[in-house]
Amino acid sequence: MSKLIINGKNKLYGKIEVKSAKNAMLPLIASCVLLDFEVGFLNCSDIGDVSVMLEIIKSIGGKYRYEGDTLFVDCSSVYIPELPCDLSKKIRASVFLLGPLLARFRKVSAVTPGGCNFGDRPIGMHLDGLRKLGAEISGNEHLYLRADKLKGSKIVLPFASVGVTENLIMASCLADGETVIVNSAKEPEIVCLCAFLNRLGAKIYGAGTHKITIHGVKKLTNKITYFKPITDRIEVGTYMLAVLNTGGELEISGANFLHNTSLIKKIYNNTCKISLESDKIYLKCCGVGNALGYVKTAPYPAFPTDLQSPLLAYACSLSGKTIIEEGVFKNRFSIVNELKKMNADITVEGCRAIVNGTNRLRGAVLNAGDLRSGAGLIISALGAEGVSEISGLEVIERGYADIDKKLRLIGADVTKG
Ligand code: EPU
Repeated sequence: MSKLIINGKNKLYGKIEVKSAKNAMLPLIASCVLLDFEVGFLNCSDIGDVSVMLEIIKSIGGKYRYEGDTLFVDCSSVYIPELPCDLSKKIRASVFLLGPLLARFRKVSAVTPGGCNFGDRPIGMHLDGLRKLGAEISGNEHLYLRADKLKGSKIVLPFASVGVTENLIMASCLADGETVIVNSAKEPEIVCLCAFLNRLGAKIYGAGTHKITIHGVKKLTNKITYFKPITDRIEVGTYMLAVLNTGGELEISGANFLHNTSLIKKIYNNTCKISLESDKIYLKCCGVGNALGYVKTAPYPAFPTDLQSPLLAYACSLSGKTIIEEGVFKNRFSIVNELKKMNADITVEGCRAIVNGTNRLRGAVLNAGDLRSGAGLIISALGAEGVSEISGLEVIERGYADIDKKLRLIGADVTKG
């Protein structure tokens, strides 16, 4: 298992560029199954989860290739509506293929997906939604879905799930009639998916709101050569928190600040200066910040669960008490025991982590249990006194391209071990 070795306390100065978002790319690639032509996605970087998704596409008969940072995906030759067990177990996003494969082949078989290790991640809402569109589903660990015809329906989601909203949009854009998804998630990645599908000829209305209406069409026929996905707001937030934790000054290009307003509001005026341009964020630190009070994660536009561990790591070195409540995934606190090895003062009570900031964080031997806790550990290690070794680098590389190189370029003392 590869690791990162970080010698902390270097301030970070310079520029970082972010590229297409992991959580936008995964459903976009899945949606290519609905097409019988090739599409190019601009501005892509090589991240682990996207590579696994592309291998799944290849295993069912599709093709992909890179030209520079443009990723071309061609699903015209997809012929097997059966997801491979080993690859599907590696990423949660394999479940996104159920909707589009069902729409194209009227049947699909799959194993329940794997993914980041932060507790139970059920798929019942995906299956209930597909049932509403006419799917018959059997099996437990190995699932068989079949639908002679997908038929538009009204689907009320019990929780504004990102993946379920995306899956049902993909399935219903080729269904007969109208589908209405009530309590749909509003994340920018969903708006991006709908913009892509609409350019191809889908009729999706209300993306970015809690009610999405889809008028089914027979086929997506508008051939487009290129599409530019949104950039990665979680990667942007991670680098912002890294520089806040170390001190320094950073320009992040490719960043859409509107996608990070919950984080910007939280840190604004907290001993840093921020200036915003249409595709850039400048951040200048001016001393140790104050504790953040109370932060609760919830679906967009609230504070994102994917930045909860990075924020928690930052809160550990602020003066005073911060309370972070996890409102999306109950058990997403695997970072806490690792941070405690660094001397952090954190107590977990149910869905809340209570952090008493300290300036005595020390480097330690750590393990990245999941992608975002790994990112949080990097943030802490960069700001701590001494050397940290973080194992599980491949888990972090599922969502962050070249993180060691990017950090070195802005002055961090980071090596791969
Ligand atoms: N849920 C169910 N049943 C389901 C589906 C979801 O109970 O069938 C629950 C989940 O257990 C969770 C809540 O609904 O409590 C929300 O989960 P959601 O479905 O929104 O998550 P997801 O679609 O599986 C995406 C991102 C995650 C991100 C969440 C929340 C992708 C590929 N993944 O997951 O990203 O945390 O939305 O914003 O888009 C990450 O990037 O590190 C990551 C885990």
